[in-house]
Amino acid sequence: MAKTQVGDSLPEVRFAIFGLGRIGTIHLNNLRNNSRARILYCVEESEEATNFVKKKWRLEETGTSFIKPSQKDKVFQDERVDAVLVCTPTFAHEELVMKSLESGKAVFCEKPLALNYEGIKQCINAAEKYQRPLMCAFNRRFDSGLRSLKERVDSGEIGKLQMVKTCSRDHPKPPVEYLKISGGIFHDCAVHDIDYICWILGEFPVSVSSFAQNNFEDIKAIGDFDTVSIMMKFPSGALAVVDLCRHAVYGYDQRVEVFGSNGMLTNGDERPNELKAHTAKGTTSVPIFGAFSARYRESYQNEMEHFINVVQGIEECGVAGSSILAVSKIASALEESARQGKTVTLDWNTNVPNGF
Ligand SMILES: NC(=O)c1ccc[n+]([C@@H]2O[C@H](COP(=O)([O-])OP(=O)(O)OC[C@H]3O[C@@H](n4cnc5c(N)ncnc54)[C@H](O)[C@@H]3O)[C@@H](O)[C@H]2O)c1
Repeated sequence: MAKTQVGDSLPEVRFAIFGLGRIGTIHLNNLRNNSRARILYCVEESEEATNFVKKKWRLEETGTSFIKPSQKDKVFQDERVDAVLVCTPTFAHEELVMKSLESGKAVFCEKPLALNYEGIKQCINAAEKYQRPLMCAFNRRFDSGLRSLKERVDSGEIGKLQMVKTCSRDHPKPPVEYLKISGGIFHDCAVHDIDYICWILGEFPVSVSSFAQNNFEDIKAIGDFDTVSIMMKFPSGALAVVDLCRHAVYGYDQRVEVFGSNGMLTNGDERPNELKAHTAKGTTSVPIFGAFSARYRESYQNEMEHFINVVQGIEECGVAGSSILAVSKIASALEESARQGKTVTLDWNTNVPNGF
């Protein structure tokens, strides 16, 4: 991907951000540190979240307006706004994406783009109709370790691919208020693994199967799962296995292994630093990262750089609409498999994805 040079003379990209929660503040911080971005609006219902942001970043001093969701039309009517970041809970995505595109804004939206396939399709069709960029935040594609892994897979270094194994265990366990409106573990969590496995392999599965379990009473009570195993078979013959969990006591555990006829590539187990203690009891390292915000910090910076490049016309969007739709279809098939206890076959003939 092209990197822009300091001193690029293209006009700055002027943003509105909806949602100042866990992920919204990460993106806000990255925009704040980006000389090519200016934040015109922050839209948030919660006084607490708004005050936290106001105090921490002192954005009002540089002309940012803080408004409530009920005043959101100001954003859509303001011709100065080039791009909208949608970082609200998932149920609010579709409406905000549609309104932003209809009013001519580029959109960066957190995953998933909408609560269901039809909603995602509407958003992608609108991006096409209004000819505006729409990027779904599959941030793992922008992680330097995973990018390098993909480049080496693509170079043929490990030969014909036979197996991909990923492990995604969350930490800390998300609050049940979040889980209730998350869309469920398949659409909220598994989508990241599904996306980057398909992206690495360059294909979509033809057959999927999943088991799911709830070990936490609060997660069981909302009809969701906290621990999931996934298997996928791809047209090339490659297989994939995903191990997902909402809570690992030892930290935010993210690992991947890609095995092929000429060897294996692995990535993961990253730690804040490489300090090791060697004593009579053995050798210990510092714990792995404690949350997504720290583990994927660099990927969030990279994806925002990329989105700004897309809005400025320097790069093509690196996350294709067809792959966003394909990921949603796969996640639904996996949920169906877990809930109904069967293997689900995926038919791509009527809707062939035409890119990643
Ligand atoms: N890519 C990633 O790594 C990643 C990580 C976490 C969350 N997410 C996604 O980001 C989205 C938000 O998750 P979160 O963890 O930041 O949630 P959060 O609950 O921490 O924050 C959401 C914020 O949006 C505000 N909000 C609610 N409705 C709004 C509206 N209509 N307009 C403006 N603000 C509104 C809430 O008050 C809250 O402050 C979800 O869709 C989630 O799937 C992605």
